[in-house]
Amino acid sequence: MLLLGIESSCDETAVAIVRNGREVLASKVSSQVARHAPFGGVVPEIAAREHLTAIQPLFDCTLKEAGVAMHDIDAIAVTQGPGLVGALLVGVSFAKGLALATGKPLIPVDHVHAHIHGGFLGLSDAEFDNALPCLALVVSGGHTNLYLVESPLNFRLIAHTTDDACGECLDKVGKLLGLPYPGGPWIEKCAAAGDPDVIPMPRMVERKAQMEFSYSGLKTHMALWLAKQTNPLDQKTINDACAAFQREAFEQIVRKLMVACDRFPQVKSIVVAGGVSANQAFRQMTRSRFHVPCHFPALAYCSDNAAMIAAMGWHIAMARRSDNTVDATASDWDVYPRYPFEIHKFETEQDKQS
Ligand code: KG4
Ligand code: ZN
Repeated sequence: MLLLGIESSCDETAVAIVRNGREVLASKVSSQVARHAPFGGVVPEIAAREHLTAIQPLFDCTLKEAGVAMHDIDAIAVTQGPGLVGALLVGVSFAKGLALATGKPLIPVDHVHAHIHGGFLGLSDAEFDNALPCLALVVSGGHTNLYLVESPLNFRLIAHTTDDACGECLDKVGKLLGLPYPGGPWIEKCAAAGDPDVIPMPRMVERKAQMEFSYSGLKTHMALWLAKQTNPLDQKTINDACAAFQREAFEQIVRKLMVACDRFPQVKSIVVAGGVSANQAFRQMTRSRFHVPCHFPALAYCSDNAAMIAAMGWHIAMARRSDNTVDATASDWDVYPRYPFEIHKFETEQDKQS
């Protein structure tokens, strides 16, 4: 079954063709990073306009690269949300138009859940069957979410950030340190040359029972540390600051993951996805702490892409085989800007006291 995936939730326009949920025939991404870099963050209006310009040529060249035509496609999966409303509207409208014109089924996909399926791309059927149930982390510029995934479409949110997302914090601290946007990859680069033990860092949300992430305190700590420096920062100090800050940013995640592993012993693997999962130090830290297999997306599928949308769309199509169409003309579904946070509560009385 061939799925066309379309993604336009933030600052990347993406189109992909994926066979049976895990074999990528083509995946094209048009990144707007350079357009937003002068502003130090994504400007929603610019993002929406850039998507408009990019989407049609990207669609044409993805089909060409995959060597398929629209009549070969079985269904169209599109990011429904969460994301920037103006940006989402471009992808959703394009997908609806395509579905209307071709009569293909249209499948709305949750962007955050789809990141998890990005971590399964390329796995064999046996590897995939052995991966579930899993704990899945989505660590990106907009989200730091931990899920228990019992089956491909069953996501139980067990922890999320109460303030900044991890990637958002990396980007903001990168900006404070004078690094280019987005800060995450630059912090990784500087940290690799730094000593994490030189500059002390606070440990955030340490209580075991506290199943949530928090990054605003770490960001404030870095701002206060910077304000105390009397001389302009030399490269060694920047490297040491990045190494210490990055380690604590990731340690926090690994600590919560360890608690979750103890609570859900049925878990057979860990999946880490989202832009921050590209970080090699984070990968190594995660791999070294857990005895179950850890799956990370190929670098091309860490950041926003449409292969993950098509991958998740395939699972939805399979689940709704007899009824897998969403009427493109129906008015009862549309883009939605907010993720409905419904945390699965599993805290016991004893946990609360620990
Ligand atoms: O998933 P993504 O592309 O977009 C969102 O949905 O947010 O994630 C972008 C985030 C940015 O905060 C960026 O700094 C971070 O991912 N990022 C990294 C690395 N590459 C991208 N963070 C740390 N190390 C990296 N190598
Ligand atoms: Zn994303």
